[in-house]
Amino acid sequence: MSTFDILLLGSGGREHALGRALAADPEVGHLHIAPGNPGLSPLGTRHAIDPADPDAVVALARELGVDLVVIGPENPLVAGVADALHAAGIDCFGPTRAAAVLEGSKAFAKEIMAAAGVPTADARVCDTLEQAIAAIDEFGPTYVIKNDGLAAGKGVVVTDDRDAAIAHAKSCGKVVIESFLDGPEVSLFVICDGERGIPLLPAQDFKRVGDGDAGPNTGGMGAYAPLPWAPEGLVAEVMERVVAPTLTEMRRRGTPFTGLLYVGLALTSRSGTQVVEFNVRFGDPETQAVLALLKTPLAGVLRAAARGELDTIGELEWDSRSAVVVVEAATGYPGVPRTGGLIKLPADDAHAWTLQAGTAEVDGQLVSAAGRVLGMVGIGDDLEAARTHAYARLAELDFADGFHRSDIGIPH
Ligand code: GLY
Repeated sequence: MSTFDILLLGSGGREHALGRALAADPEVGHLHIAPGNPGLSPLGTRHAIDPADPDAVVALARELGVDLVVIGPENPLVAGVADALHAAGIDCFGPTRAAAVLEGSKAFAKEIMAAAGVPTADARVCDTLEQAIAAIDEFGPTYVIKNDGLAAGKGVVVTDDRDAAIAHAKSCGKVVIESFLDGPEVSLFVICDGERGIPLLPAQDFKRVGDGDAGPNTGGMGAYAPLPWAPEGLVAEVMERVVAPTLTEMRRRGTPFTGLLYVGLALTSRSGTQVVEFNVRFGDPETQAVLALLKTPLAGVLRAAARGELDTIGELEWDSRSAVVVVEAATGYPGVPRTGGLIKLPADDAHAWTLQAGTAEVDGQLVSAAGRVLGMVGIGDDLEAARTHAYARLAELDFADGFHRSDIGIPH
């Protein structure tokens, strides 16, 4: 079998999960990661460049002679790394800067959804605080206030407290104020080649910091897949009513979407399936659970998407079991996390394994280096078994400075 080489950009838990899947693909010759984290070191060669610097990425990809670049996080996409790679003739999984605006601007995402007829919450785009306050009072509680631009997982505030809603709007500048969508949330990831999309398993993440969804929003404290409670036909419905018209609208505008379209959904009681948000990259931590169940080798699928050839890929094959990922965060998160705490990892096996995110190596010791430090993945015959494996292994983790939610994997 001929093989090909990959450069993976990013350094979080999502990239550790992607790196694990790519390194396990027999079609992959060598995996390079920039910059990665210590968990990725055994899987390939790490390179200390800024993944959001288009010139640095192109120079590294050329020097290494890689056949495909896979972009993990949103910042390189919004910075135009995919555009620079296209100009250099290097295949890239990830949207262009123009297509990445689907995540980079909440107002633009709403404009696309309206043009494509995608079901979503009613919204007002506000440039001034006066406009924002008027919209907040027009919709009433529960208030949903979204910073228009990228805000590293801290851009959205959902609250019943009018003062807190106004304070967030004030701190943002341009904001999108929306009507509240009730009902359980679903993350559906779709691998797209500009024209077609292939869905992954639906997942659910846990955004609030505390048990029972208490406390502030975070980047995500855990996730599980698949969703035993999801209505039959949900994925087909979303592909037809959301993904297909969105891909058509993006193509019509001359900015076709190639990469991962992350569709955040609410299954509302009154108006059915509605889109909460689009992102333009794999979700974190849902990816850690979803990829644990993917049986089809990933690299060939991402390369086909990058080349506009998803029609050569059939349906993806999945493990029929369940997967849960529990995030271990550093004390203080989602405020200022305490870093530098010593970590001793438990052993990995087929039931549970650790994915690293905010870690670093200092003097040969593994230490915490950011808010979300690790993700413990558990896999089992059903959700309860997967939860049991993840939490049992987490109990063997030696990390005094950390905490986690105890209810990850219980549908909410
Ligand atoms: N899990 C939320 C996100 O990736 O944005």
